[in-house]
Amino acid sequence: MGNSLRKFALCLMTVLAIAVALYSLRFLGAFVGQLPRMDPGIAHVVTEFPVRALMHMVIAPVALLVGALQFLPRLRERHRAWHRRLGQIYVAACVIAGIAALFTAPHASGGPVAGFGFALLAVLWIGTTLMAWRAAVRRDFARHRLLMRLSYAMTFGAVTLRLQIPLFIMAGFSGYPAASVWLAYTSWIPNVIAVLLFSAWQSRRSFAGAPLGVS
Ligand code: HEM
Repeated sequence: MGNSLRKFALCLMTVLAIAVALYSLRFLGAFVGQLPRMDPGIAHVVTEFPVRALMHMVIAPVALLVGALQFLPRLRERHRAWHRRLGQIYVAACVIAGIAALFTAPHASGGPVAGFGFALLAVLWIGTTLMAWRAAVRRDFARHRLLMRLSYAMTFGAVTLRLQIPLFIMAGFSGYPAASVWLAYTSWIPNVIAVLLFSAWQSRRSFAGAPLGVS
């Protein structure tokens, strides 16, 4: 993959992550009694299980935002202390929002099949993020890099899910709850596969002695 294509992909990822994270801030209104406009299925989940649902909806965007910054090469290479500090915030946000998601998933508006997909995602999200953090503490940076890429592939599912919703509606699904039976899987599995393929390609190239460019 050319350097400029990779820079463009990184830039697009960052812009989309910031946009979705900022848009999710509207859920803060719930703390002053102002629930934002949302799908009636999700509104039902928020009304029935406000603590776990809102804990997830307010803290997960922090992971989305902070995680995107961690991939910016300049920030990572020139400001190591910031990379470490933001990394700790990312891990804490993933674990807290992941636990809240795990307890919200059984009540997902798409029913048990959607709930299973989200619960599986939550378990893998928490596990991968914690393993990535442990690898950094042990200074195993190759493992840290791969696991953090996988963790963020799952975090970025929040963006791909929102991009896929209109496609499912155009395909004839009645709304978010019906589409989420698929979205609970299609939002993150392709991201994880893409990271695995890209990382395998990159390590083959570095093995062959080619320059890596931006990561
Ligand atoms: C990666 C693991 C994640 C899991 C397992 C997960 C799971 C869930 C579940 C079960 C719901 C309830 C929706 C329903 O009833 O179907 C939900 C809603 C929501 N999640 Fe996540 N989520 C994850 C990541 C994220 C991230 C990274 C964000 C960051 C923006 C996020 C933001 C939200 C928001 C704002 C909602 C409310 C509905 C909406 O605005 O679309 N989630 N999530």
